[in-house]
Amino acid sequence: MNTLASPNNRVLSGMRPTGRLHLGHYHGVLKNWVRLQHQHRCFFFAADWHALTTEYDAPYEVAGHTYEMIVDWLAAGVDPGSAVLFVQSRVPEHAELHLLLSMITPLGWLERVPTYKDQQEQLRDKDLATYGFLGYPLLQSADILMYKATLVPVGEDQVAHLELTREVARRFNHLYGREPEFEARVQAALRKLGKKQARLYEDNRRAYRERGETSALQVAQALVHAQANISLGDRERLLGHLEGGGIIVLREPQPMLTETAKMPGLDGRKMSKSYGNAIGLREDTDTVAHKLRTMPTDPARVRRTDPGDPALCPVWGLHQVYSDEARRAWVQEGCRSAAIGCLDCKQPLIEAVEAELAPIRERARPFEDDPGLVREIVAAGCEQAREVARETLDEVRQVMGLGYR
Ligand code: TRP
Ligand code: SF4
Repeated sequence: MNTLASPNNRVLSGMRPTGRLHLGHYHGVLKNWVRLQHQHRCFFFAADWHALTTEYDAPYEVAGHTYEMIVDWLAAGVDPGSAVLFVQSRVPEHAELHLLLSMITPLGWLERVPTYKDQQEQLRDKDLATYGFLGYPLLQSADILMYKATLVPVGEDQVAHLELTREVARRFNHLYGREPEFEARVQAALRKLGKKQARLYEDNRRAYRERGETSALQVAQALVHAQANISLGDRERLLGHLEGGGIIVLREPQPMLTETAKMPGLDGRKMSKSYGNAIGLREDTDTVAHKLRTMPTDPARVRRTDPGDPALCPVWGLHQVYSDEARRAWVQEGCRSAAIGCLDCKQPLIEAVEAELAPIRERARPFEDDPGLVREIVAAGCEQAREVARETLDEVRQVMGLGYR
């Protein structure tokens, strides 16, 4: 069995609100979200508090950026009927979990996360020697652990944050995932399954624990999840017993790296708003065509009759995203022999990008016409997210001895 197809997977990912998105986000992230939403239970959210860790001096655009970004998600095909879309600050449970996790997180773990020093170096004009910035990856851990996400689609740069998240989950489970008479309670829970199911559970558990068969672990997990008649507590016990000695309150997530080629920008560097080389997802036909027509080419092609080399031309990078073998061969030959001009070379790209953007603009229109629609979608998503968040927090408070009720 492959882990990706397992029904027990939960996907969560977040994006800091930076305003309108571009083709780099579409090819690098959103297409993947759109695919995942049909395969798993998915949660996607705007990490507006994370934005504050660097924008605290002028946070006034964060809210506007959040809504613009979510319109772009919807325009790209992220479907609020399939995935839960929400805004981090509207689910204040994240703050409580962050606080509780901060109690058990050694300072050294945070200081050693590579992004901490790297970002401070890169954003030198900002004072990032703050408590909030140091806690950035722990807040991210709270985001992830709150939803018991198993898969977290992120870029390479976020892998260290996932590693921290797993360490924090392990430490939490180790500290609080014990209960008196755990073994006896597991046995009692097993009796509730009935003989046949209990045997199946035990056989698969043994296959996993003794021979490391992860497929057996997944079978046993699926079996536990399929039990309709056991309590939440018994379910946690049976899941915990599969993997170790205690209850697994917080699940360890895995990063899911999207292995798409980096979307090149108009100048050949990675597409990024800050480089000014991006094509926005909702830019109009003429603007996009103009940007492509005027993008730089191999500087050796001064005149139409000068041959060029696609390897030295940013337009070639776009053909690698949008063109099939035949058209790439046409570019290679035509460029090297000066049989085609640069505008000829760009024309099919202009058409391909337009074909990609037209339905995106179309899907964005109702949300642009009626901003209330987006607000409703977000409000409903926040409610759904809060339900899950409250459940997790209840459990967390309980095992930490904070269940004053
Ligand atoms: N740090 C992530 C980024 O910069 C954004 C983020 C915040 C996130 N919380 C998350 C991503 C939880 C995945 C899961 O891209
Ligand atoms: Fe670039 Fe195409 Fe012009 Fe060659 S023909 S320099 S690949 S735009």
